[in-house]
Formats: sequence, structure tokens, C-alpha cells
Amino acid sequence: MKNKTALLFLILALTALLIGVFFGLLAALQYIIPDLLKDYIPFNKVRPFHVTSTISWIVLCATGSIYFFITQIEHLKLFSSKLIHTHFIIFIVTGIGIYVSFLTGKMEGREYLAYSPILTIPILLGWILFGVNYFKTIIQNVKNWPVYYWMWGTGIIFMIYHLSEAHFWLIPNFREYFIRDISVQWKSYGSFVGSWNMLVYGIAIYIMSKIKKDESSARGKTVFFFYFLGLTNLMFGWAHHTYIIPTQPWIRYVAYGVSMTEWILLIYIIREWKKSLTKEDKKSYCMAYKFLITADFWVFLNLILALLFSIPAINFFTHGTHITVAHSMGTTIGINTTILFASVFFIVSKINPSFKINQFAVKYGRNLFRISLFLFWITLLIAGVKKSYWMYFSENIFFSEMQDSLYYVYLAIFVFGMGLAISIISLGTVLIRVLTKTLKNQENLVLYSATLLIIINYQY
Ligand code: HEM
Repeated sequence: MKNKTALLFLILALTALLIGVFFGLLAALQYIIPDLLKDYIPFNKVRPFHVTSTISWIVLCATGSIYFFITQIEHLKLFSSKLIHTHFIIFIVTGIGIYVSFLTGKMEGREYLAYSPILTIPILLGWILFGVNYFKTIIQNVKNWPVYYWMWGTGIIFMIYHLSEAHFWLIPNFREYFIRDISVQWKSYGSFVGSWNMLVYGIAIYIMSKIKKDESSARGKTVFFFYFLGLTNLMFGWAHHTYIIPTQPWIRYVAYGVSMTEWILLIYIIREWKKSLTKEDKKSYCMAYKFLITADFWVFLNLILALLFSIPAINFFTHGTHITVAHSMGTTIGINTTILFASVFFIVSKINPSFKINQFAVKYGRNLFRISLFLFWITLLIAGVKKSYWMYFSENIFFSEMQDSLYYVYLAIFVFGMGLAISIISLGTVLIRVLTKTLKNQENLVLYSATLLIIINYQY
């Protein structure tokens, strides 16, 4: 394999996932023991460490997968190898910068992007390099694009715009007007998620068409309809993030309609694909196939939850409770992570089909993943319902009393979270091992390490 940077992106992504899982578990432990490490790393620091690491997993894994697919499976000559190397170095150095920013308490950013906003500049630069490399490569080499090329291209462009939009609050004209500020802020987060969904769903369709060995499934009317629905959702489906803001009710209804139909269509696409596969197809990419089926189940569960809490009367009670967390983690783990696991398993079976992977860790890891994620999700919902009851229906009960009454629910969150963590660690380490072994020629690693050391030394 000539260009191994795609694999380095994947290894970096899996490492971010493992770090994220560690902080997730720590955060869950702090629910039970609120004083745990409070003086060193309190919950309000652990949370951004967790959220940023897990979001980085999604974005980096999607990026690495796309680079891999276009160069190693489609065999397209990348417009510039220098750009992909620079992209990788920028992301790894910025990643370290983000952790340093959290550790030193420089958390002037907002909500999901809590790190120092200056670090967004290199992140944007990395995305621009990715965009240039992607479009130059695809436009020069491919005619009549299948849907996934459109999805990836759209995801990259919108990611650049919405990441910038999420920082419009730095401009006084936005910051000084509360409604404008909060509308743009939450709109940008919704569309930011929509942008990475474009990348991840594009990956799902790509893998499905490759497992089926039928390109026509990525060119049909249904998938293009799905693409336009996804695009509409990306641009207008953020309304549920701005629920508290006074807007016209029809805007919310349209947005909800769009986001629900997108999921229904995704379920339809996966089920039709599943029906059309032969036994041989399923066997040859066994793990990728199984993770895509798990994703289908989670799209279904999240659809039910989202349908319920999109009803304004219900949304009123779920806002600010663990039901929202169940929704975020249900989608980022249940849908995004399972599709991305499918992607990395697909890549692993492509780079080395005869590679001996630890079957025990993979088989039991996957089963544990499914069971513990489900139980974890249910307990988050229970915690949400209990908190909502306390917020709206109980009187004269202090916050601390409500927290004490949730002790066993929090304990269950931790226990199932631990199960989930063990499963992710076993799957993640197996994949990291295979990918690292594939990088037989260590030159790249040495080159990157050396460059990194120089940059870090320079920074200090
Ligand atoms: C493996 C065990 C995990 C545990 C124990 C865990 C635990 C937690 C906890 C305690 C929070 C904070 C919720 C709050 O604000 O009170 C959280 C938030 C979050 N986690 Fe996890 N997590 C885990 C894995 C993951 C993974 C693998 C992902 C994604 C790939 C993820 C994505 C998120 C997101 C997006 C949030 C923000 C939720 C929101 O603000 O709505 N988590 N997690």
C-alpha cells in the first residue's frame, strides 16, 4: 500500500474513541461519587474531554475511511499526497492542543466546542485541505458520480461552513443580541451534526454497494432522494435545537417531518439491501454486515424516541434531562459508531483478508456492545424521566435529594457503561492492532513522530 496516511487517520480515530470512553466512564463514576477527583478534574472538565474525544472519533474515522476508499479501493490517484500528510499533522497537533487547552482550563469555547476558539483555525484549515484534495481528485477522475461522492463532498463543504458558523458568537453583532446569538449557535450545532451524518451515511451506502458488488444501488432514485432529504435536513432540520426560541410553529413541524422521513428512508435502504444479499456476500464481509444491521436497529430505536420527544408537549418535559443525552449517545454510538465500526472492519478485510484477528474479542465484543448499549440507553431514559418528574411534578424536594434518589439508576448507568466500555475497548484494540501491523513500513510513523516532536518543542 503506497499511501498509509488513511490508516493513520483510522488509528488516531480509534485512539480518540478509547480516550473518549475512558472519560465517559469517569463522568459516569462522578454521578455516583460527585467528589471524585473534584479538585483535579471535575465533571465540567471531564465532560468536554469525553464529548470532544468521541466527536473526534466520528470525524476522524469518517475522514480516514473516505481517504482509504478513494485511494485504496477506487484506486484514484490522490491530487496531492502532501495535502493529506499536512491534513493529518494539523489534526494531530490540534488534537493535542485541545487536550492542553482543557487541562490548562482554557475553555472559552461553547458547549460541544468548549476548547479555546483559536484552535478552530487549524481545524478549518485541515477541512479546507481535505476539501481541495477530495474535489480535485474526484472531479479529475470520476464522471457520473454515485451518491456517496455527492454525500462526502457535501459533508466536507457544509462542515467548513457550520464549524465557522458555530463561532459566529465571537462577532459582537451576533453575541450582543440574545435571540440571534442562541438561534445561530444551536442551528450551527444541528447542521454540524448533519454534516458529519452526510459523511457517515455516505460511508454506509458505499460499504453496502461494495458488499453487494453492485454499483447501481448507489445510483438509484431512492438513494438520491435520500441524499436530497439529508441535505434538506442538514439545512433546515435543526429546529429541535432551537425549541426554546420563539419561532413560527410550522418551521419546527417541517423540520421534524424532514428529519423523521430521513431515518425512515435509511431503514428502508438498509432493509432492502439486506434482503438483496446472498449468503456469500454476508459471509465475505461478516463483521461489516453485522454492524450495519446493528445500525439499522438503532436507527429504528432512535426514530421512536425522536418521534415521541418531538411532540411539543413531551419535548417540554424532556428538555434538559438525560432523555436528551440518551438521544445524543443513542445516535452517536448506536448509529454513527456502528456504521464506522462496519467501515473499519470492511477496510481491515480489504487490506488483509487472511489476517488472523482475535475472533473471541470481536464476537463477544460485538455482543457485549449491543446488549450493554441497549441497557445503558434504557437507564439513561429512566434517569431522564425521574429528573423530569422532579422538575415539573414534585414539590419541596431539593436537587440533592433528587440526586440521592437516583443513586441506583446512576449505578446502573455506570455498570452498563462499563460493559459498553469493555466492548469498545476489545473491538478498538483489535482494530488498532491490525491497522498498526499493516503499517509494516514504519517510515511514515517515524516521519510523523519526528515532525510532531519538532512542532511540540517549537510550541513550548
Ligand atoms: C462507553 C461508555 C460511555 C459512558 C459511560 C458515557 C457517559 C457519558 C456521560 C456521563 C455523559 C455526560 C452526560 C451529562 O451531561 O450529564 C456523556 C455525554 C455524551 N456522550 Fe458519552 N459515554 C460513553 C460512550 C460514548 C461514546 C462511545 C460516544 C460517541 C461515540 C458518546 C457520546 C456522547 C455525547 C455526544 C455526549 C453529549 C450528550 C449531550 O450533551 O446531549 N459517549 N457520556
